[in-house]
Formats: sequence, C-alpha cells, structure tokens
Amino acid sequence: MLQNRINVNLAGLALSSPLMLASGVLGQTGDSLANIANSGAGAVVTKSIGPAPNPGHPGPNIIEVDCGFINSMGLPNPGAKNFIEEIKVFKEKSNKPIIVSIYGSTEEEYAFVAETFSKADIDAIEINVSCPHSREKILNIGLSPEMVKNVIFAVKNAIRPKSIPLFLKLAGNTHIENQLNVAKAAIDAGIDGLVAINTLPAIAIDIWTERPVLGFKIGGLSGPAIKPVAVRIVYELFKKFGTQIPIIGVGGIITWKDAVEFMLAGATAVQIGSGIAYRNITIFKEINDGLVTYLNKKKIGNIREIIGKAHRY
Ligand code: DHB
Repeated sequence: MLQNRINVNLAGLALSSPLMLASGVLGQTGDSLANIANSGAGAVVTKSIGPAPNPGHPGPNIIEVDCGFINSMGLPNPGAKNFIEEIKVFKEKSNKPIIVSIYGSTEEEYAFVAETFSKADIDAIEINVSCPHSREKILNIGLSPEMVKNVIFAVKNAIRPKSIPLFLKLAGNTHIENQLNVAKAAIDAGIDGLVAINTLPAIAIDIWTERPVLGFKIGGLSGPAIKPVAVRIVYELFKKFGTQIPIIGVGGIITWKDAVEFMLAGATAVQIGSGIAYRNITIFKEINDGLVTYLNKKKIGNIREIIGKAHRY
C-alpha cells in the first residue's frame, strides 16, 4: 500500500492532505463541496453562513485585476437553518472534514449560528471576523482583540457540550503588532487554529466611466497579488507563537511551490480559493503530486517535517 506522506493533523482533524478549500469559492452547496473533497482536498470550508438568508451585494461583484481578483460578494448565503441540508448532502458523498465558516454582526448572532450548526454533523467552525466589505462591518471585530475574545467565548458557549475545533480567520491586516495582539486574544480565549489571511481591502476604478467597477464600490483582493503579504503574516504568527497554535495559510496559492512556502513559514495546512479560478479543481491533485515530488527530491519523509523550517535561519 502506498504510504501517505502528505497527511497532517490539524487541531485533532486528520487531513489526508494539507490542502483545504478556502471559504468563498464553490462552498455554497453540499455537492460542490463534495466535488472538491473528492478532487484531493484534505478538508473543505463552506462559504460564510450567517443567521438569516442574505442576497449579498448588487453586481458586478467580482472583477479580475493584475495578479488577482477583487470581490464584494457581500456574504450571500441561505442562512444557517437552510444550510444544514447542504451538510447532509456533503456527508453522503464525502468522509473528509467539513468546516463551516460563520459570521454575524453581534456576539449573539455568532452564537446563534454556531448553536444551529452544533446540531449538525460538522467537523470544525471557522469564525469569519474579517470580511473587508460587509454591511455588518465584521472587519471591525477582527481588528479588535477584545471583540475577538468575546465572539470566541460566545461561540464556545453556544456549541457546548459539543467540542469541535474552532478556527479564527484573521483579517488581511498588515499592522503586524495589531495582528499579533488579535491572535494572542484568540489564543487566550481558547481558539484551536488561526487562518491567515482574509482578503485585503481594495478597489478598482474604470477610467472611462470614472466610477468604481464593483456594485458595492469597495471589495477584497485575493490571488497571487496578496501571497507575499499572507506568507509574512504566517511567518510572524509562527515566530511569535511557534507550535502553540496551528496556522492555516491562505492567499494566492497557485502551485505546489506556493504551498511549500507557506508551510516553511509555519503553516500546518493551507487553503486554496482564487487558485481554482486560475487552474481548475484539478489544482488540488496537481499540488498534492507536486508536494510528493518535492519530498522525494529533498529526501524528506513527511510534509509535516517542513512546517516552520524557515525559522531555523
Ligand atoms: C466575502 C467575505 C469575505 O470574508 C471575503 O474576504 C471576501 C468576500 C463576501 O462574501 O463578500
């Protein structure tokens, strides 16, 4: 039997690959999530789900720019109660971990969504406090250590007695000191993993019509343009907290080399979103294969051995 050399343990979740589907891309239905899981992802993260159905922002809500995309989806989703059905569909088609991304505009709303999902067959929760263009202004939560702590307490309390890993998705915030303070508050509140990073605040303006291109005007930048920023934040988090807390790297991963770079900086796992638009869902298998080739070339037994290795220098 072929030995799996790219499996990792993420806060108690056994992942057959360190590659996860990032929230926001193909994560609205059980079928599409299962399709990604069956294409080689080690786990999948759903689109962010809130307390009630939300149509999102008016279009256009995504635009390609040099080296990335700017989107202002506006957190469109069917609401927590309706989404439970999609989890059932996923579980019939895949036995890989499913992580539900949740958002709210108050602690109470986060608690309500978490409690709703605590009754479903989910494997972990990713708390989104960092969408840069939501009407709910959730980015304000993600920049405040105090608010982050309170949201985590509220979520923990709401899912009791269920005990599943809770991850926090950090903002695309390049103020390193503030970012580390938020991360410290999350660790103190008992978070099980940090996801770094969400999209960066961005805008595109049409020079002929002289107007912002997106319907909501402002949006979040993803894709290769943000990769070095994301790797830096992962690097700073690992430098500060070491193996105290697992880090999940996300931002502009297109090739296996990008995934390796995030892991050397300190990521235990990585998420892929925009990369699917650049390649296809075959990206998961391509990167898995690339990781094994890298291990062979470097004579390394398991991908785990490279986590944080860049900090030796
Ligand atoms: C959306 C949410 C995010 O957290 C993000 O980074 C980008 C877009 C959204 O649904 O609008």
